[in-house]
Amino acid sequence: KTKIILDVDTGVDDALAVLYALASPRLEVLGLTTCFGNVDVDTATRNTLALVALSGRDVPVYRGSEAPLLRPWSGPVPWIHGENGLGNAPVTASGRPAEEDAVHFIRRVVREHPHEVVLVPVARLTNVAKAFLFDPELPRLVRRVVVMGGAAFCPGNVTPVAEANIWGDPEAARIVFKSGAPVTMVGLDVTMRTLLVHEQLASMAARPYRALVQEAVRFYMHSYYAAGRVPSLSCPLHDPLAVGVAEDPALCTVRRYAVDVETQGELTAGMTVVDARADSAAEKNVDVCVDVDAPAFLQRFCAVLGMDASA
Ligand code: BDR
Ligand code: CA
Repeated sequence: KTKIILDVDTGVDDALAVLYALASPRLEVLGLTTCFGNVDVDTATRNTLALVALSGRDVPVYRGSEAPLLRPWSGPVPWIHGENGLGNAPVTASGRPAEEDAVHFIRRVVREHPHEVVLVPVARLTNVAKAFLFDPELPRLVRRVVVMGGAAFCPGNVTPVAEANIWGDPEAARIVFKSGAPVTMVGLDVTMRTLLVHEQLASMAARPYRALVQEAVRFYMHSYYAAGRVPSLSCPLHDPLAVGVAEDPALCTVRRYAVDVETQGELTAGMTVVDARADSAAEKNVDVCVDVDAPAFLQRFCAVLGMDASA
């Protein structure tokens, strides 16, 4: 099994990623760490704890960052994730986060299992950046960092060129991308092509979390469809796809590029700048996902969560 730490700002697609990771037979989730982003960090932590309880698994949740490294937090996005982060579906709070904070947890666990732990940040990269700043050897001790974030050769989703997880803390993203750790970027290039359709959602078998998932994801699908971002009532599986790539890198075709993050630009802050020049001498630091076997991932995702992929 692949050991992962999943870092979330739960969030509807984060919720799907959490449930998928906890149920996947190929993954050992060592812990879930939380961050501000789609919602504030306390709401993200509460939502994550509620999902862990519904999954029936005993996996600890570690509270993380409240704000970006150098900027104020831009605030929640209720029009995409609902006021409570879960599409306004009723959430029953359950349990408490661990005493240890997310950054110390990440550092401790990576050091306990050198070269074994895959970090899967599907939120702002603030917690991972802090762990790397705190312990500069850490980038060489992780097995890989599989980031849901960025837009290499496609439009952004917050600005014309910036994706939310990078835009929301560009300095943190830059630190992680340039840390020397092996980084895989699961960006909008592939996540916007990995759509769960409402018929698949409706086919979900009875599970303790079915009512929550169906209500939350319906809200999320309607927001994407109303905004004209998807061709039918459906939603991109941004965060679950990063978990999928952590368990099976073959789901995506990657190309290695020199990638940097713009932190200053008047028009381009948060852009993932990919050096695709054939004769570039820049050191290649990121495996960029450029294509995805979406049907293969949908098949696996639906099987794990009790949905019918052919619905
Ligand atoms: C990313 O931003 C968040 O809203 C989602 O949860 C996902 O991690 C997509 O750009
Ligand atoms: Ca997220």
